[in-house]
Amino acid sequence: MNNLRHMMNPLDFSVEELETLFDLAGEIERDMPGYAHKCDGKILATCFYEPSTRTRLSFETAMLRLGGKCMGFADASNSSAAKGESVADTIRVISCFADICAMRHPKEGAPMVAASRSSIPVINAGDGGHQHPTQTLTDLLTIRSLYGKLSDFTIGLCGDLKFGRTVHSLINALSRYEGIRFIFISPKELKVPDYITEMLRQKNIPYEEVIKLEEVMPQLDFLYMTRVQKERFFNEEDYIRLRNFYILDKEKMAFAKEKMYILHPLPRVNEISVEIDDDPRAAYFKQVQYGLYVRMALILTLLGIE
Ligand code: NCD
Repeated sequence: MNNLRHMMNPLDFSVEELETLFDLAGEIERDMPGYAHKCDGKILATCFYEPSTRTRLSFETAMLRLGGKCMGFADASNSSAAKGESVADTIRVISCFADICAMRHPKEGAPMVAASRSSIPVINAGDGGHQHPTQTLTDLLTIRSLYGKLSDFTIGLCGDLKFGRTVHSLINALSRYEGIRFIFISPKELKVPDYITEMLRQKNIPYEEVIKLEEVMPQLDFLYMTRVQKERFFNEEDYIRLRNFYILDKEKMAFAKEKMYILHPLPRVNEISVEIDDDPRAAYFKQVQYGLYVRMALILTLLGIE
């Protein structure tokens, strides 16, 4: 197939292509029924080798809302992976059944291996601590919708910046826009990886690394909170020590701008107190809604459907 395209990394699409994708997501938001049959007869496979609620259900809902159907597995122990089948073989099999595949895997690069063997578009739905491009598309669409543009703001990313793939993907994607300043807020042990700060230095993009959230709060236009990624820790003791490091509550919010939006890829554990949920600046549930529109737009785009 000549025009076969995958989504492994947000950078796989140019900034212009992303604009077109976000415009399409906007159209879908305005006229959901108008898209209800665009994928009639198409099948989405969701191959999830790692737990997920939002991402898998969001992909499945996206396909169902487009009129298509879904199949797949939510637990690798129920698939032939448990018998030792490689992702390369699994995707060849899936290619015979489905039109498009969303894959989540605990190993960095596994969806990329699948894409290289696939005859249908493969979407990386999260690979280990590496990338999570469709969460990033969700985040970008949310920022664009709330703030009106994808440039000229200060974003604080807070929590587990070491293992959080949504953070890595988002920084990567935002590094292509003008006037963005990053503030990384984390304990020493969970700092953003060196390869990312190195990339920012090379591109002359301003960033700061701090430990205390309150200190930088007044500067932020967006605060991107994250969960401490329990499953990626090597020992329980470190996790227990770090899990309560940041808890966003009303007291901390008192330092924030009146129009600072709070984002979170979810699931939340305890890093945002539920007392914040009714604050008009809390945008994390809106974000989930944008995730649906953008995944619908992505499925249409990768399938080449107008
Ligand atoms: C994130 C993920 O899986 O990386 N969740 C999501 O897909 N929205 C974040 C997380 O698990 O903390």
